[in-house]
Amino acid sequence: MTEEPLDLTPLYRVLEQYRAQRGALIPVLQKAQELYGWLPKPVLETIAREMRVPLSQVYGVVTFYAQFYLTRRGRHIIRQCDGTACHVRGAGRIISTVENRLGIRAGETTPDYRVTYEVVYCLGSCGLAPVAMVDDQVVGHLVPETMVKIVDQLQ
Ligand code: FES
Repeated sequence: MTEEPLDLTPLYRVLEQYRAQRGALIPVLQKAQELYGWLPKPVLETIAREMRVPLSQVYGVVTFYAQFYLTRRGRHIIRQCDGTACHVRGAGRIISTVENRLGIRAGETTPDYRVTYEVVYCLGSCGLAPVAMVDDQVVGHLVPETMVKIVDQLQ
């Protein structure tokens, strides 16, 4: 799949707001990630240049914090819980079913960037086990068939 060209105009708008502020690197990176969904190399290079920070320092920050992504994410993010409560209620079977359905392993993104599928270890909703977050929605009492239906509906 070909990458769409990256429009850096909105990033320059963000940089305009923060350029004069010392220590604004993290908020700028957060805003940039909101704009692009992840942090592509040209975005990091632009931020480093415009904020007058070494690129190595920018990479240092981005790799230190788990909130930043250096690879492109899917349009939809599914986080399947496989913590203890969810595991004993069959999360493992849901995970293998979804992996088969999407043709990827947990932790990967489909080649068309439709879905990123992740496994996490407790979403704080153990009473609803097994649980997944589908984008911003918590879905509980899952069975593999329900999850397949949900996955198929994501565009
Ligand atoms: S173990 Fe799955 S929500 Fe807590």
